[in-house]
Amino acid sequence: MALVSYDDAEAAAFAAARELPPASLDRWRHAVQQHLRPRATTSLLDLGCGTGAWARAFTGWFGIQVVGVEPASAMRAYAEHRPLLAGDAGALPLRDSSVDAAWLSTMLHHVPDLDAAAHELRRVLRPGAPVLIRSPFPGRHQRIGLFHWFPEAIRVLETYPDLARVRAAFAAAGFPVSSVEAVAQTTAASLADFAQRLDRRAHTPLRLISDDAYEAGMARLRAAAPHTPGPVVDHLDLLVLR
Ligand SMILES: C[S@@+](CC[C@H](N)C(=O)[O-])C[C@H]1O[C@@H](n2cnc3c(N)ncnc32)[C@H](O)[C@@H]1O
Repeated sequence: MALVSYDDAEAAAFAAARELPPASLDRWRHAVQQHLRPRATTSLLDLGCGTGAWARAFTGWFGIQVVGVEPASAMRAYAEHRPLLAGDAGALPLRDSSVDAAWLSTMLHHVPDLDAAAHELRRVLRPGAPVLIRSPFPGRHQRIGLFHWFPEAIRVLETYPDLARVRAAFAAAGFPVSSVEAVAQTTAASLADFAQRLDRRAHTPLRLISDDAYEAGMARLRAAAPHTPGPVVDHLDLLVLR
């Protein structure tokens, strides 16, 4: 059971509010490329691929073969990427040693059994293949705008598995080496654009704060937007495990 549900309304909100144009993800392209070393024959599992935005970006950037796996039928309905399989982290619908890398973007906090997921990833990945995790981690929210405008959401983030927990689970499953770096993305062209596009249903930390806390954050955001120039740039972590 995910931390929150992904039904039709949430899937529609996610597709509208969270998908970023590939041009705003240039730093991610570069960071992933360093670890993936993609070739035409490289196969990558996009686990919890949601509406398929990253699968589409990786296919376009690197020309690799991406297989999406996603448990929520409503999210799959918005994904045009193929192949796209129903399945979840606890029981991957893939053969042993069949993929060259795995990509897990903002999904790890939904996985109920992290240790089982790490073992499943060990099973399907070839020896030496990396697991690339894009996520906010507890204690590392300072350069993510959402947590500035909605500080109550930090308490939600603190319930996510932290870096030490994730590293320990993956080390025990056979991924002993890890590195972490913060990677920038342009989340919105301006704070006004950010405020206008923001949809609570598309962000787990906002779904799990009170209505009052959410309204107060939106009021702060709307008041600041006209006086805050420049794009909204967020830094999420890229954790790489081998
Ligand atoms: C915040 S969305 C991220 C979607 C996509 N990875 C992205 O970054 O655009 C989280 C996704 O994780 C999926 N998910 C939840 N529990 C999962 C599990 N146990 N195994 C795999 N995916 C899961 C959800 O259905 C949802 O599509």
